[in-house]
Amino acid sequence: MKINENFLKLQSSYLFSTIGQKVRAYQAAHPRADIIRLGIGDVTRPLPAASIAALHAAVDDMSRAETFKGYPTDCGITFLEEAIQADYAARGVSLDIGEIFLSDGAKSDSGNIGDIFAEDNLVAVCDPIYPVYVDTNVMGGRAGNLMANGRWSGFVYLSCGEESDFLPALPESRADLVYLCSPNNPTGMAMNAAQLKAWVDWANEQGSILLYDGAYEAFITEDLPRSIYEIPGAKTCAIEFRSFSKTAGFTGVRCAYTVVPRELMAGGTSVNALWARRQATKFNGVSYITQRGAEATFTPGGRAQVRDTIQYYLRNAGVIKAGLEAAGFRVWGGVNSPYVWFKAREGLSSWELFDLLLEEVQVVGTPGSGFGPSGEGYFRLTGFGTAERTAEAVERISRRFAL
Ligand code: MLT
Repeated sequence: MKINENFLKLQSSYLFSTIGQKVRAYQAAHPRADIIRLGIGDVTRPLPAASIAALHAAVDDMSRAETFKGYPTDCGITFLEEAIQADYAARGVSLDIGEIFLSDGAKSDSGNIGDIFAEDNLVAVCDPIYPVYVDTNVMGGRAGNLMANGRWSGFVYLSCGEESDFLPALPESRADLVYLCSPNNPTGMAMNAAQLKAWVDWANEQGSILLYDGAYEAFITEDLPRSIYEIPGAKTCAIEFRSFSKTAGFTGVRCAYTVVPRELMAGGTSVNALWARRQATKFNGVSYITQRGAEATFTPGGRAQVRDTIQYYLRNAGVIKAGLEAAGFRVWGGVNSPYVWFKAREGLSSWELFDLLLEEVQVVGTPGSGFGPSGEGYFRLTGFGTAERTAEAVERISRRFAL
């Protein structure tokens, strides 16, 4: 018996688990501490009223033999895929139902997608980036070893620092699978159409596949693409992940979807067919009840409620951004994104700032170095808190740490 030794290469704890442990330990030692949590990007606003009504009705459907549903994948239910299809169509993107795969989360899908690709593919990631892309490929055997500089051998790292507003440059060498996330987690920066077009053209020329994480597309307020498929040529080179989590408050309900176009081929094989085979074998679909709740976000009422909630979080992000800037910090994101990324005081590491914020002002954020070694010295706060607590956190940080 042997374990998958790739797991041993990883740090024993996932970034957000480590943060959770530290915060729980602090709270246990200081039971009266009034902690404000702006660390993990978890939502705080309730589900849209339209979803709540649909969820209740779906529960009632499950109580009657005539409307009861069993395995979602075997029931021929397609109403949510149809709503998603119509949503894409409204942005000028035409998809067929078989290109839309429902799931329980963009995190699961962006991690699981590696199942259908060979172990010796070269994977390109930004640094800093959402740690799931790196960790899951390490688990899948696509990385060598963690090097002294905090990066993994065997990965291609895309240059994306302050000088390019944290947006990734095209790789100078071969890369088979490229993770892109826009609006970006953690930096909050979003790519424009010209930048995405350069990626699509490059991927089509190279025969590479873009794994495009659009989990935060609903936060785009400026005139930027909301989907990679708005870029001509993307269907032959890109897979797109989307989620209801941050869009409609489904972090606790779980519902997402991944688009794998039929035109997407790899070595003469349909990637869509491989993903369909993988999902049919390892996943039993999204529950009927959940699907009804998600479908309701596409109704006129649901859309308006989702828009209000997104605006609420964007206002919070704006408050954080403005407050930190006024306190002398250099700040990115927070405009087309719920995430605000800022530079810590010179000489202070990300984890040192994490400890200072927790111990001195009881504000929890996410250390930039948790997203990769180039995140060292930076810090992320989220706009997903309540308006009152967000304003309070900014006030506490500014009072104590203004530069
Ligand atoms: C984050 O804080 O980066 C996200 O909440 C993590 C996730 O969505 O899994």
